[in-house]
Amino acid sequence: MPPLVYEALETDWKASFSEERQKESLHRLEEGFVILFPRLNFTLSEEEKEFLSPHVVGKSKNVCYNIANRQIGGTILKENAGSRLGRLMHRFADHTRHLLHNLLPKYQGCLKQGRTSFRPVEVAGRVTSWRKDDTRLHVDCFPSTPLQGKRIIRVFSNVNPEGCPRSWRVGEPFPDVVARFFPKLKAPIFGTPTLLHLLRVTKAKRSEYDHYMLQLHDQMKQDLEYQKNVQQSTLHFPAGGTWVVYTDQVSHAATAGQFQFEQTFYLPVSAMERPETSPLKILERMAGRDLVRGIATTRYVESPIAKFLYK
Ligand code: SIN
Ligand code: FE
Repeated sequence: MPPLVYEALETDWKASFSEERQKESLHRLEEGFVILFPRLNFTLSEEEKEFLSPHVVGKSKNVCYNIANRQIGGTILKENAGSRLGRLMHRFADHTRHLLHNLLPKYQGCLKQGRTSFRPVEVAGRVTSWRKDDTRLHVDCFPSTPLQGKRIIRVFSNVNPEGCPRSWRVGEPFPDVVARFFPKLKAPIFGTPTLLHLLRVTKAKRSEYDHYMLQLHDQMKQDLEYQKNVQQSTLHFPAGGTWVVYTDQVSHAATAGQFQFEQTFYLPVSAMERPETSPLKILERMAGRDLVRGIATTRYVESPIAKFLYK
């Protein structure tokens, strides 16, 4: 199996990169590598370290922050403590944006910053439904937020104060995942995307691309034989380290670790250096047709039906 990790030794969130490094990073990222900065630490002040406790989340597994409207969710912390945690997450969001701005100038102006999350619960032994079980290999996609082909880039920082790594399994390359599972995926039932949108289960109309990505995600997670036997490597991301990866492309599973920050970015396929490496283009080659067509987006209100369907 080829090496999957491209190491970068920068320690500063505002580091600048030579043109050669930028090109190499872009190339590797789009190929499905994890770009690992083992010494790029997201530093917390002594006061902020009080947030390093699983008790800051209620029933949810993550604290979630929206930099666009500065709203924080998923925490039981209120008032002053809640706003301080929000500011901490805002700082992480800013750092990751600066990092990608300097590392991947080709994407400039096209990256859209999504949600920021803080993950204070130990991954190993956490009880969830199979669909939400991220200890199983999968590619990322969102049941209620259709991406219509857009890419998901995520930046993760392990801030574990005891020096424990975050451990992932990384599986076979995306084209191999598709070659294996595509023949088993069912086409969407006529009218379903419109219905799901009308019922506000999805925030926009689900494209065929989203349909196939969700099926891929589910089929991978449901197939225990595959989970066990597919070629895979274990990666241990060190505490004090940061990594960048296309999680819609790289088959991954988080098996252990506690205390991590994560920032999601979206990118249109057209902004890529090599769009042919995107899940959209790979799936379209397999299907022999366009998988995103004439789709409009509208406002979305959270629906109880979505919660029920995707628990
Ligand atoms: C995931 O995206 O599947 C989880 C990654 C992590 O929490 O380390
Ligand atoms: Fe994931």
